[in-house]
Amino acid sequence: MKCRVCKGAAVIDVRRHNAAFCKEHFVHHCDEQVRRAVHSHRMLEPGERVLVAVSGGKDSLALWDILVRLGYEADGLYLGLGIGEYSDESGDYTRAFAQQLGRPLHEVDLGADAGYTIPEAAAVTRRSPCGACGLSKRHLFNSVAIERGYDVVATGHNLDDEAAVLLGNVLRWDTGYLGRQHPVLPATPGFVRKVKPLVRLGERETAAYCVLQGIDYQVEECPMAAGNRHLGYKEVLNALEDRSPGSKAAFLFGFLERGHERFAGEAEHERDELGECSVCGAPTPGTVCAFCRLRSQVGAIELPVELKVR
Ligand code: AMP
Ligand code: FES
Ligand code: ZN
Ligand code: ZN
Repeated sequence: MKCRVCKGAAVIDVRRHNAAFCKEHFVHHCDEQVRRAVHSHRMLEPGERVLVAVSGGKDSLALWDILVRLGYEADGLYLGLGIGEYSDESGDYTRAFAQQLGRPLHEVDLGADAGYTIPEAAAVTRRSPCGACGLSKRHLFNSVAIERGYDVVATGHNLDDEAAVLLGNVLRWDTGYLGRQHPVLPATPGFVRKVKPLVRLGERETAAYCVLQGIDYQVEECPMAAGNRHLGYKEVLNALEDRSPGSKAAFLFGFLERGHERFAGEAEHERDELGECSVCGAPTPGTVCAFCRLRSQVGAIELPVELKVR
């Protein structure tokens, strides 16, 4: 196996690109994929303050590293979700990397700062922990970015994640989600811009990137995610990709180029209908946002009597 660029010994092949790379040119390949995603979707402008949501996993640590090397002013945000040892270790990997990188890391601990942990929320709501986890992340990424003066939030969602979510949305023809599924969600009143600069890199590539760059990351998956639907979609897509390399990318990028626009109107309509949460001021379709409702359900806050309908 020879490097496509320098013909030296390759350390990794990327079948989707029908190419192999040595260490130096693989790192360059990852940088280029991020640069292309950022430019083609106009994700970030020079001089903007970027808040990178870092979980301690390979994707978000690789993302943070790449953005800083590409010259962006990118700081980290870690949410302690209170998922036992898994969260403790994830926090340790994140803090160690922030030190290595020499960039500020903001931390929010759900238990201490919001009054509940993900296992507690799952027990009280008797729904999937990933539901409470997802809504807490969405809310806090946005509110922390606004409070601390960041222009944009970047997450480590990669090609595999996005293709799996797309498959799920297509299987249910969920037109609202299809309209919102895009690597850039523009800023709207009450929301900062959200971007996914790793959409052009698969998870095998982000893992290899971390290993080659000496970045230690949390290898364990979230223990509460077992049986999660997305894992099944990923398996199906991996089987397809194995038979015909490039199908995942064709599926996702074909949608972004030719499908997304057809559903975008629906998402705009939903956004126009939002008011302000009467407790925290966040945009919401109801009177109290999902985050505040969850906090009241777990007993972390008391809602005014007139709002206690649900
Ligand atoms: P997941 O929802 O676990 O697939 O993670 C998707 C992305 O959300 C990651 O790549 C991170 O950018 C971000 N993220 C997930 N968990 C956390 C966390 N505990 N703290 C900060 N960001 C996170
Ligand atoms: Fe966090 Fe499912 S509980 S991903
Ligand atoms: Zn090379
Ligand atoms: Zn609220």
